[in-house]
Amino acid sequence: MEKKANTIGIVGLSFGDEGKGKITDYLAQNADIVVRFQGGNNAGHTVVHNDNTFKFHIMPSGAVLEKEVIIGNGCVVDPKVLLDEIENLEIGGKKVNLKLSSTAHVIFPFHRDVDGLEEKFKGEYKAGTTKRGIGPTYSDKAARFGLRLYDLIHPNLLKKKLENLYEINKKIIHCYDPTWNKELDKIYEEYKDYGVKLKKYVIDTAYYLNKQIDSGKKVIFEGAQGTLLGIDHGFYPFGTSSNANATGISNGTGVPSNKIGPILGIIKAYTSRVGEGAVPSELENEIGDQIREQGHEYGTTTGRPRRVGWLDLFNIKYSVMINGVKDIAVMLLDALEGIDPLKICIGYEFEGEILESWPIQPEIVEKCRPVYKNFKGWDKRSREEWSSIANNGYDALPNEMKVYLDAVKEYLDVDIAIISIGPEREDTIILKEIF
Ligand code: IMP
Repeated sequence: MEKKANTIGIVGLSFGDEGKGKITDYLAQNADIVVRFQGGNNAGHTVVHNDNTFKFHIMPSGAVLEKEVIIGNGCVVDPKVLLDEIENLEIGGKKVNLKLSSTAHVIFPFHRDVDGLEEKFKGEYKAGTTKRGIGPTYSDKAARFGLRLYDLIHPNLLKKKLENLYEINKKIIHCYDPTWNKELDKIYEEYKDYGVKLKKYVIDTAYYLNKQIDSGKKVIFEGAQGTLLGIDHGFYPFGTSSNANATGISNGTGVPSNKIGPILGIIKAYTSRVGEGAVPSELENEIGDQIREQGHEYGTTTGRPRRVGWLDLFNIKYSVMINGVKDIAVMLLDALEGIDPLKICIGYEFEGEILESWPIQPEIVEKCRPVYKNFKGWDKRSREEWSSIANNGYDALPNEMKVYLDAVKEYLDVDIAIISIGPEREDTIILKEIF
């Protein structure tokens, strides 16, 4: 038996919404600390616990289990959203054990406005963002006039730096909308109050986390979004503004890469996509509608119906490479029930040639034709039947599903560590104990 790891990275291998939250929630039972390392409240995750439903956008999964949770420096934080999530947990009777990186950047109301306005003017290059101000906040960070949580909790710094940030953003917004008028004083007063409330959580999380890992604490690094939405190795410009893959963990936490791993890659049994950009295996037909309904493919953050398609192992293979993934979890297999045949995309044809690897450039992807392999589908079952199958483990899975999973494993050259065939924690089958 392999030695179980002390830390693990959980990353999505597609376009987000792969079910990372469910797996984090599952593995968090064995963890001491759960850390978010990138993104902001563009992510969405619902956890049902003892009849209470908790909806998170920025809070790391693990908070429901009252684990220690950390928001790392690679994240962008909307203080109001975070305070609401803290309050909801407390109302639900949960003790919040949270630490925030003093160097994570702060989302302001004008960032949300810039997000919406810029999207309008991006034309065919719009990403279909969540309009939560994510991109503009990371832009200001990179341009070096953004505010960090350290600034937020020090009113003098907040006042001085906010004036500067406000003026720059006002100038940008006025290019698009000269009537825009949000008062600086009001924003300052509101954010000063947030700073007072959040102050007790803010520390140097890089130092703290390294110390905890060195002392043997078990830590989960929880990715948001997915590898193919990442800024450097994703489907730019149709993705998000942070590194949603394993390379982002070290950057986004200050924990060196030799203390991180293994990386568990999460995929769904099919493709889903929120937002814009070509999806070669997209199903804009009744089968797509059926998968959307059976998989409840509606955004947690925006409520938008997600685009769905056949499983695309060709782009996932690229993500496996970027993340150094050796183990994966396959989620939502039950959502493909009653569909026959099933198809898996195993390559792209571009201008008459079969490509060697996922081409990353949207201009090429949009001209690619997916190459499929057909698989026999499995029958519909009731929720109780799926739960009973999960209870009885891998051997109880329908044979057709085993063939489908074997093909995934072989094509990606990975082990399947976890299978999920339903929304509950108990609907998870563990094939390999890695954490
Ligand atoms: P942003 O992160 O709000 O700037 O959005 C950029 C792109 O990433 C858009 O296509 C969004 O739909 C997508 N996106 C952002 N967060 C998520 C997520 O958590 N799941 C799926 N898609 C996401």
